[in-house]
Amino acid sequence: MQVAIIGAGKVGTTLGTRFTAAGHGVVYGVRDASDPKHAGLSAVASVADAAARADVIVLTTPWAGAQSAIESAGDLTGRILVDATNPIGPGMVLTHGTTDSGAEQVSRWAPGARVVKAFNSIGMEVMANPVFANGRSVLWLCGDDVDACATVASLSESIGFEPVRLGPLARARFQEPAALVWITASASLGREFSWGMLRR
Ligand SMILES: NC(=O)c1ccc[n+]([C@@H]2O[C@H](COP(=O)([O-])OP(=O)(O)OC[C@H]3O[C@@H](n4cnc5c(N)ncnc54)[C@H](OP(=O)(O)O)[C@@H]3O)[C@@H](O)[C@H]2O)c1
Repeated sequence: MQVAIIGAGKVGTTLGTRFTAAGHGVVYGVRDASDPKHAGLSAVASVADAAARADVIVLTTPWAGAQSAIESAGDLTGRILVDATNPIGPGMVLTHGTTDSGAEQVSRWAPGARVVKAFNSIGMEVMANPVFANGRSVLWLCGDDVDACATVASLSESIGFEPVRLGPLARARFQEPAALVWITASASLGREFSWGMLRR
């Protein structure tokens, strides 16, 4: 797959490194591709150019930068847009609460895009290696477009996750609070733990 990562920060470069190692093509969409701080990245482009040639576009900006990054990407109608952001404001409060979600806001900013919420509810250390001694990390994801969710699930499996689709995009109202659970637990557990699935 060709993957555009919008936002070459901690999450973006961690996922980009993993996708590259799994054989996917990765281009980072950044605000200024000529900035020397991007010199170590394999391929950088403007946000619009990176998005234009990707099968999957992964948004990894801070929440405060999400709208402008999406606007920079241009028309995303029909495109798979993965929202990995967490809309967390001061005081660890979800800016959209639980009767709306950041993912649904992303969908309103990118009308027609096939938005999938994923990679938000675990820390970057888990993205760097989702395989634990006692199993693979679950990756919660949700989205209205079943095919887009399947594509993102496959992408996540390629780097070691066990994807579990929660349902339509509005399930992000529960998936975003899950990030707060992970973050809260990390205060006592450290950051090398993840969600696992027990089944009967
Ligand atoms: N850290 C984690 O473990 C973790 C886990 C799950 C989800 N998340 C979520 O993932 C997102 C990114 O977190 P992070 O820790 O990777 O943050 P980060 O290290 O601060 O990286 C954010 C990146 O986004 C870029 N950016 C900001 N606005 C942009 C725009 N308009 N266009 C293009 N790029 C833009 C920044 O570029 P500049 O350098 O130019 O500002 C920076 O490289 C957040 O929403 C966070 O809540 C984080």
